[in-house]
Amino acid sequence: ELTDITTLLHSRIRDVADYPEPGVMFKDITPLLADPVAFTALTDAFAGIAERTGATKVVGLEARGFILGAPVAVRAGLGFIPVRKAGKLPGATLGQAYDLEYGSAEIEVHAEDLSADDRVLIVDDVLATGGTAEASIQLIHRAGAQVAGVAVLMELGFLDGRPRLEAALGGAPLEAL
Ligand code: PRP
Repeated sequence: ELTDITTLLHSRIRDVADYPEPGVMFKDITPLLADPVAFTALTDAFAGIAERTGATKVVGLEARGFILGAPVAVRAGLGFIPVRKAGKLPGATLGQAYDLEYGSAEIEVHAEDLSADDRVLIVDDVLATGGTAEASIQLIHRAGAQVAGVAVLMELGFLDGRPRLEAALGGAPLEAL
């Protein structure tokens, strides 16, 4: 059954060569989103991870983590919290900067959305270098909450995001479908 869902999900991800720049193979999830069978299977698999890890909230990472994470929260009966690029949230925020290949970026969360009794499942489409997810883990910890785990659709293993995240996760699972 695990193999079946992996095959289904893989078949609905489109490789786009040289996008957004030459030499990059972009993983386009829009065919998966457009297929209700595949999107539902993905949502159910993520919701199962949320239940197994005892998550109390789902955090989605802008932008594709919003699309994938929100139905997981609904399916699992949990609240959804957006982690956004800096400057997009109107309330009091916690911010975390992280390094990109060239330059840096910052993400933010509404401080009031997380509390000490929360266990958060982080959901996103792709784990690449792990910089975004690592910064999210730091944000959640700084808010006083725990991280139940990280769940992604795809892991680009050649970029070594996993060892970086495992160090930040301290034993919580990183699951790539
Ligand atoms: C992509 C992807 C992840 C992140 C992974 O988002 O959706 O969130 O990069 O990369 P990393 O593991 O190296 O941090 P992107 O920053 O392109 O944002 P977008 O979805 O808003 O376009």
